[in-house]
Amino acid sequence: MPPLKVHDVQVSYGKVRALRGVTLSVDEREIVSIVGANGAGKSTILKAVMGLVPITAGSVEFGDRRLDQLSPPRIVRAGVSLCPEGRRLFPEMTVEENLRMGGYQRDRRHVAGALGEVYAYVPVLAERRGQVAGSLSGGQQQMLAIGRALMSDPKLLLLDEPSLGLAPLVVREIATIVRNIHARGVSVVLVEQNARMALKLSDHAYVMETGRVTLHGTGQELLDNPLVQRSYLGV
Ligand SMILES: Nc1ncnc2c1ncn2[C@@H]1O[C@H](COP(=O)(O)OP(=O)(O)OP(=O)(O)O)[C@@H](O)[C@H]1O
Ligand SMILES: [Mg+2]
Repeated sequence: MPPLKVHDVQVSYGKVRALRGVTLSVDEREIVSIVGANGAGKSTILKAVMGLVPITAGSVEFGDRRLDQLSPPRIVRAGVSLCPEGRRLFPEMTVEENLRMGGYQRDRRHVAGALGEVYAYVPVLAERRGQVAGSLSGGQQQMLAIGRALMSDPKLLLLDEPSLGLAPLVVREIATIVRNIHARGVSVVLVEQNARMALKLSDHAYVMETGRVTLHGTGQELLDNPLVQRSYLGV
C-alpha cells in the first residue's frame, strides 16, 4: 500500500484550534496508533485524512496522491476507509444491509466477494446477517462497524476508538480482528484511549496533546516511556 504522510496539518472548528500542525506517517503494512486524552485531536486527524473536515494548512499524501484536495468518496476510492468513533451503525437495518452500505460505491459483482471476506474475518456477523444491528451486543456492533469499513476494500483502515466501552475479553477479540486485517496486507491507524492495547499492537505510535504530537516512537518505546506510563497507562 502507498504510505500515508500527514504534514503540518492544521484544523480549526471556528475559534477552536483542534490541530496545530500535526505531522505523522504510516508506512506500508504498518499498524500505527495515536493515543491521547479527551479532546487532544485524535478524531480530527482521522477526519482530516478522510476529507470530512477541511484543513487550513499542511498536506495529506497517500502514495503520490494529495488526499486533501479530494472529496470523501474519492478518498474512499483511493483506498482509505474510516470506522468512526461511536460506530454510527444503522440500528434498524440488518447486519448485511449495514455491510452493503459500506460497499455502496463498488460494483455489485465485487460486493458479494467483499461480504464473504468480512464474514471470514468475523464469523459471528455471518451467523447474524439477518438480525437488526441494534439488537447486537456492543462488541458485535463494533465488529460490524469494522466490517462495514472493510467493504470498500481499503488499503488503509482508520479505526477510531474501537475498544471504547467494551469488556476486556471483547477488547482482545477486537485486537485479534485488527491483527488479522493487518496480516492480509491492510495498514491500520488505531486511535485509542486504551493505550496499552494500542501500543502493544503497533509498529509505531504517536502521543497527542491539545492538537500537537508530543511524543512518537515504536509501540514498545512508548510502553517503556515513564511519561507515557504515568499519563496513559496508569502505572
Ligand atoms: N464539531 C466540532 N465543533 C467544535 N469543536 C469541536 C468539534 N469537534 C471537535 N471539536 C473540538 O476539537 C478538539 C479536538 O477534538 P477531537 O474530537 O479531535 O478530540 P479526540 O482526541 O478525538 O477526543 P476524544 O478522546 O474525546 O474522542 C476538542 O477541543 C473538541 O472539543
Ligand atoms: Mg475522538
